[in-house]
Amino acid sequence: MHITIVGSGYVGLVAGACFAELGHEVILVDNDTRKLAALKAGELPIHEKFLPELLTRHRDSRLKFCGDLIEAVTASTAIFIAVGTPPTDQGEADLSYVESVAREVARAINGYKVVVEKSTVPVYTSNWIRTVMLRNGASPESFDIASNPEFLREGTAVTDFLYPDRIVLGAESERCISLLRDIYQPLENGSYYGRQSAIPSPDNARVPPPLIVTSAKSAELIKHASNAFLAMKISFANAVASICEAVGADVQQVCLGVGSDSRIGSRFLNPSIGYGGSCFPKDLMAFRAVARECSYDFRLLEEVIRINENQRKRFLQKVRSALWTLKGKRLGVLGLAFKGGTDDIRESPAVFTVEALLKEGCTVAAYDPAAIERAREVFGSTIEYAPDAYRAARHADALLILTEWQEFAALDLPRLHSQLKYPIVVDGRNLYDPRIMVEHGFTYYSIGREAVAPETYVAAVSGRDKHHNKA
Ligand code: UDX
Ligand code: UDX
Repeated sequence: MHITIVGSGYVGLVAGACFAELGHEVILVDNDTRKLAALKAGELPIHEKFLPELLTRHRDSRLKFCGDLIEAVTASTAIFIAVGTPPTDQGEADLSYVESVAREVARAINGYKVVVEKSTVPVYTSNWIRTVMLRNGASPESFDIASNPEFLREGTAVTDFLYPDRIVLGAESERCISLLRDIYQPLENGSYYGRQSAIPSPDNARVPPPLIVTSAKSAELIKHASNAFLAMKISFANAVASICEAVGADVQQVCLGVGSDSRIGSRFLNPSIGYGGSCFPKDLMAFRAVARECSYDFRLLEEVIRINENQRKRFLQKVRSALWTLKGKRLGVLGLAFKGGTDDIRESPAVFTVEALLKEGCTVAAYDPAAIERAREVFGSTIEYAPDAYRAARHADALLILTEWQEFAALDLPRLHSQLKYPIVVDGRNLYDPRIMVEHGFTYYSIGREAVAPETYVAAVSGRDKHHNKA
């Protein structure tokens, strides 16, 4: 199949590389000439596991880069739209990039084409794309519109694509569905998984994945509803964490107990400093706007967002309660990306936290395994950039863990202790067992669990005359 992907960002690049891996001829289009030149020169603009391997495998054979949308569309049967859909000031999705792509595609039609929404878009977008294409001269029988939402998590996007929980195809015509099925056939019939060169399967992969065929509107809603539900799970866990803190329970134990119910499930139930990224915050606002437009007062979504914002503030309060005053304090920071495994800092709660601490007069030395380059664009020289976790901790009044990178969960604790001016760790991702931290001499704060401290510091930190080593 000849496929064009419009937009070579996190979503488009991964989708393009994976379609080439499935055996299709792919043209990746982008209107950012610098990005395109870098991709053509073999550079990779994003940090994503297995993407370098796939690009090396398929670049210049089944995977090509092109700045000319018309040329790419002319050579393709399926056109996937993966351009950005950023929020407007009112929280709605800005669909002007999608519209301009639809306009250009209409002008390039030279035979039957399927135009597929890959970007997250509100319900009704497929109708609008159709209307725009008709207005721009495409004849009704020359194209179909489909919605094929992506469920890729940054950091595991390639395996999420090749080993998905489900493939959703939303369209109105048999012809269109059959063409999309052909594209995904190596996954649907399982033949990809038998290949020697296949990208290795993650744990618990559902192979082959179920394929769900729906109307375009239902597919559009599946994407928004899925992201809203996942964000709700995280906010729920964070709300329960706040109750745990108030009553002295342990949220990890509570979430283990709750998540073991197979009706609930343990994933996306990890308390944190709140969710971030280019999807959840934007998609919740856009879904809320969709609800508003159809006169449904979806207050649950408002609450999910409110809990998330509050969670960031609660974390800052935790840092304050660990350090008393903040002005002039030196803080080591682990993690700037919005989550582990990516260099993406869009809507990162870690960035929000560092910005707030700088305003309070702290100095910050930060380390992130992948996001330093991007963070420099935000912070410039207002923070120090450390080459590793121990250097970030050096001479610091406390260490803050802000991103769930795996390497942050496996630090050499005696070495870390020796670097810090005061052995205080405030962990926004619950990466450590409080008992182990206290055994290593740390005063340790985390989310939804009691703070702990070595015997000598207990009374000072808690202000209470305590017998145990809980701060
Ligand atoms: C974006 C959306 O944010 C997300 O909601 C959606 O699901 C997929 O698209 P992402 O891939 O992370 O996700 O965005 P980004 O990395 O910004 O990539 C978009 C790309 O489209 C950029 O490379 C941009 O240069 C390109 N683009 C944008 C075009 O080629 N043409 C345009 O008109 C606009
Ligand atoms: C998300 C969706 O998971 C994916 O299906 C969709 O297509 C795009 O949006 P992504 O934004 O890459 O993917 O990251 P995700 O793994 O969902 O994490 C989002 C945020 O939630 C991160 O800030 C992460 O740290 C946070 N998170 C996640 C928690 O705080 N707790 C959890 O249990 C899980």
